[in-house]
Amino acid sequence: MLLLFYFIPFSLFFSYLFLGMNASPEVLANTPLPRYNVKDGITVWTAEDCDELEKRCKANPSDKAAKDFKDFLFSTINILGAKSKRAQGIGAVLTSVSKLHEKFSSSEPVPQKLYILFYQNQGMGILKTGVKKLFISHPKTNTLVEVEPLAVLDFFVDDTYQRKGFGKQLFVKVLEEEGLMAHPERLAIDRPSEKFLQFLAKHYHLTQYTPQVNHFVVVLEFF
Ligand SMILES: CC(C)(COP(=O)(O)OP(=O)(O)OC[C@H]1O[C@@H](n2cnc3c(N)ncnc32)[C@H](O)[C@@H]1OP(=O)(O)O)[C@@H](O)C(=O)NCCC(=O)NCCS
Repeated sequence: MLLLFYFIPFSLFFSYLFLGMNASPEVLANTPLPRYNVKDGITVWTAEDCDELEKRCKANPSDKAAKDFKDFLFSTINILGAKSKRAQGIGAVLTSVSKLHEKFSSSEPVPQKLYILFYQNQGMGILKTGVKKLFISHPKTNTLVEVEPLAVLDFFVDDTYQRKGFGKQLFVKVLEEEGLMAHPERLAIDRPSEKFLQFLAKHYHLTQYTPQVNHFVVVLEFF
């Protein structure tokens, strides 16, 4: 048993431990991020991708590499989601493997997408998007209009790496993927934090918006 503990990398041990036991967000937020030999960069994950990975592991129980990667990925998502909750001081986790499976879109079945930034063999940041039907107050006419924009639902960069340009990398990746490079103003944002508002002002000069009852922010240039 002692030998087993010795050979399992410390952080991987944590991920095995917590994946199986539904750890609370508070515990997860203090859990070291697992390490795995992944390339630096951003990859995009949906619930379907997670299911595929799970299926592959079940179909080939002897495929240790697939299982190790799945454990690494799922722990990374759950831990970064819990850290994001803590950083934003909000009551519920917005990002986890199970949250990705929640039905979100109102009419179109557009899946939520989770962008994960990997750096030096660890997950280091996340940005989650989804399409959301919203009724928002038009800043000029003051009437309620129905829109269905792509929305930023969660955004987090690990504390020690903030203010080094990694958040911008994630944001740019979303704009590229969605064909919105020239139109960051087309994104709606769910309850942006002060840091996120400053981020938008600094990188995109987006500063003006009308407060909405649903707490989504849609900037003036959206209209
Ligand atoms: C918002 C966040 C994802 C931005 O990521 P990042 O890697 O720090 O962003 P970048 O390095 O690309 O951009 C830095 C800019 O973001 C803003 N920003 C980031 N951290 C900030 C802080 N502590 N205070 C004020 N502004 C901050 C500033 O405009 C900053 O520019 P500056 O350093 O010249 O002032 C990150 O700060 C974070 O995870 N914050 C905690 C969680 C959160 O608030 N998420 C938003 C949820 S709606």
